[in-house]
Order: sequence, then structure tokens, then C-alpha cells
Amino acid sequence: MTDKIFVDNILAGRVAFVTGGGTGITGGVARALAESGARVALVSRKMEHLEPAAEAIRANGGEAIALTADVRNMEEVERAVAATIEQFGKLDLIVNGAAGNFLCPAEELSPNGFGTVVDIDLKGTFNVCRAAFSELKKSRGQILNISATLHYVGTPLQLHVSAAKAGVDALTRQLAVEWGRYGIRSNAIAPGPIEDTEGMKRLVPPQVKEKLLRGIPVGRFGLIKDIAQAAIFLCSDAASFINGAVLVVDGGQWLSSGRLLQ
Ligand code: COA
Repeated sequence: MTDKIFVDNILAGRVAFVTGGGTGITGGVARALAESGARVALVSRKMEHLEPAAEAIRANGGEAIALTADVRNMEEVERAVAATIEQFGKLDLIVNGAAGNFLCPAEELSPNGFGTVVDIDLKGTFNVCRAAFSELKKSRGQILNISATLHYVGTPLQLHVSAAKAGVDALTRQLAVEWGRYGIRSNAIAPGPIEDTEGMKRLVPPQVKEKLLRGIPVGRFGLIKDIAQAAIFLCSDAASFINGAVLVVDGGQWLSSGRLLQ
């Protein structure tokens, strides 16, 4: 996953709690954390996604457990944090990757549709940060949020996600200031279009994909490993003075004009 770019076991001894860690971008981040020596708790709503992902990590020599929780539900999140502490004894790192998305024009979006995505992406991120705070304070740990670049401009059909991710960026910066004093670093990664993901398959039709590609200055889509490598860097001691950053990993896409979804 990380192509041996970093020294072996760069995250040895760390314990990570990764929401959305069964699949997609955050699944790749979880695998990379484990390959880098971290023990990982994979957390999402569906055990059928989590257990195969945890098993794949274990088969590769890593340590992983699978825990079900809906990040919208604080009690479930608290139970998952407690189970992680019970299993691994501490918590150093949370990765907030659980997210929901669908394409919908603003004029057709129901209040519940808007609220559901904000609840998963933004409130879910808050819930996990809040539930993990006392453990992160003990370990002088860190938060890594998975954001987006959609809200840097106006992205059609993505009002709900854009609003939620703008909130995630704000939360990332707020916590950098409020919890930095406890030694807790709070950063985010904003991925551009990542090719080998469910989101790309489900949300981007083939004709749009071609236009999208023309708008990426480096001339290729991102891969999950691009995000995983950025995550390993931000989680490592190489980034120990980086706090409150939203690292854009998009090949320069959002700066160009080819951001069409329809
Ligand atoms: N278009 C418009 N509205 C939609 C929608 C769509 N494609 N999908 C869901 N909604 C609305 C629902 O209509 C509902 O609002 P309503 O009560 O006013 O009708 C609201 O969102 C909640 O939907 P529901 O399916 O009950 O919520 P859920 O909690 O089960 O799942 C999501 C919500 C966002 C996670 C769901 O869309 C989903 O499963 N997406 C696929 C997984 C995913 O998003 N992965 C991330 C890849 S980037």
C-alpha cells in the first residue's frame, strides 16, 4: 500500500480508531496504518464490510479488530472507543472517514437527506473526536479527518456534502486550537477524485469521468494509496508541528476549472 516510501514500522506502538475503515479511501488508510506498525480498530455500521477488512490486515501480519457503530449515535461510538481501549489499552489516533454521499440537485434535496449527510459526515466526526478526547489527551494523540474539495467552489449536486465537509474543515481547525494545548494535533486530508473507490464508480458517470480527468493538471486520477501515503505522513512524527492543516491531495484539480459532475 505505501510502496515502502516510509521507514518500516514508522507508526509502531500506535493505536488507531478508523471510522469507515472497512472500505474505500479510509479502508486503504487503515491498511496502510497497520502496515506501518499501528494496531487498528475498524469501525462502521456494517460488520460484513469490517470483518473481511480486519481479516485481510491480520493475514498480512497486522493487528486489527472490527467494531460496529453508527457514528451518528454517541452511545455506540463511546462503546466502540471503550472496546478499543479494552483490546489495545490506549488510543493514539482517530481517523474520521465514515461518510455518506449521493448526487441530488438542491431543489430536490429533502431536509432529511441534507440532515442525514451532515449527521454522518460532520456530527459523526464531532462525536468520535468528543468520545476519544480523554484518551487522546492521555496519549497526546491526534485526529485525522477526511474532508473534500467540493466546497472550495460550487459543486453541482453536492450541496449536502459540501456543507458537511466545510464543517469538517472548521472542526479540524477549531480542535487544532482548542486541543493543541493538550498535545493533540488535528489535521485533515481533502482528496480529489480517487479512481479505485466506490464513490467514483457510483457517483461519476463515464462521460463525466473523461471531463474530470481533463481537469486534473497532473493528468491522472488519484489512487487510494495517494491518500494513504499522505495519511501516514500526517500521522508520523515528521508532521509533529503540523496542526490545523487541511492537506489537499488532488493533483491540483480544484484549482483548475474541470470540476463538472453533470
Ligand atoms: N437522492 C436523494 N435523497 C436521498 C438519496 C438520493 N440518492 N439517498 C438518500 N436520500 C435521502 C432519503 O430520501 C432520506 O430522506 P427522506 O426521509 O426525506 O426521504 C434521507 O436521505 C435518509 O436516507 P436513508 O436511506 O434513510 O438514510 P441512511 O442513513 O440509511 O443512508 C446514506 C444514508 C447517505 C449513507 C445512503 O445514501 C447510502 O447508503 N449511501 C451509499 C453509501 C455511501 O454514501 N458511501 C460513501 C461513498 S462516497
